[in-house]
Amino acid sequence: MKHPSVKDLFSVEGQVAFVTGGGRGIGKVFCLTLAEAGADVAVIDIDPETASQTAKEIEAMGRRALAIKADVTKPDEVERAVQQTVERFGRIDILVNNAGICIHENAENMTDEQWDAVMDVNLKGVFNCCRAVGRVMIKQGGGKIINVASMSALIVNRPQNQVAYNASKAGVVMLTKSLAVEWAQYGIRVNAISPGYTLTEMTKKVSHLFPVWKPMIPMGRLCEPEELRGALLFLASDASSYVTGHNLVVDGGYTLI
Ligand SMILES: NC(=O)c1ccc[n+]([C@@H]2O[C@H](COP(=O)([O-])OP(=O)(O)OC[C@H]3O[C@@H](n4cnc5c(N)ncnc54)[C@H](O)[C@@H]3O)[C@@H](O)[C@H]2O)c1
Repeated sequence: MKHPSVKDLFSVEGQVAFVTGGGRGIGKVFCLTLAEAGADVAVIDIDPETASQTAKEIEAMGRRALAIKADVTKPDEVERAVQQTVERFGRIDILVNNAGICIHENAENMTDEQWDAVMDVNLKGVFNCCRAVGRVMIKQGGGKIINVASMSALIVNRPQNQVAYNASKAGVVMLTKSLAVEWAQYGIRVNAISPGYTLTEMTKKVSHLFPVWKPMIPMGRLCEPEELRGALLFLASDASSYVTGHNLVVDGGYTLI
């Protein structure tokens, strides 16, 4: 095996990434990070306007980008997005399954629709993309998959109740491990990142909870999305060439106490 120099250890130069939920928040930062590290990026989002904006910013950095409107819960839309990406860029080296939603609701009041909505995006959506991109990666002889799980895969958040979200993210961690074992033979590494509370639209809409959350975080503050870049590049690059099935927790110490 040829090892990169330390200077190039975290590079993804010349690679092609496919990032879901790339229109805003963590997904947008991940798209820009991969572009800055040398990749061309397909930006997938259910919101075409934000996806286009991210793509424009990538192009302004001198990389190629493709904005695609797709709902990750719909296998046919995912297949089409994968096809479009391969037609344009010829391959997919890095899949980042980032699209996700959270609903705060007490279990006894949760509707079927709420449960299904969370499971469909957070768990089935991740599988839909893994399956479609996995076929491409198997054919091309390898790739890297990074699933955005959450510390909620490991602990039960307080004070808000979010049973479906927590269960879906625990599912993402086991899906990650299962595919890591199943696809190691094809040169595909599958890992997860589990952020703690991160400052995005998702959390800003419940900012009244911040004063309750902060004392539960040993580092005493929320994560900025940019602070997840190191974990992403580690798992997307040869820096993690012998790492698979891992869940990399980036939570300011939340899950320790
Ligand atoms: N923000 C946090 O505190 C936090 C913590 C841990 C994990 N996460 C996870 O990180 C990921 C990103 O979260 P965020 O905070 O950036 O959220 P966000 O709500 O700011 O952004 C999510 C993006 O996903 C897109 N999206 C939603 N449903 C989609 C679908 N069906 N198909 C395609 N795109 C869809 C949205 O349009 C949006 O652009 C999620 O998986 C989330 O669960 C977030």
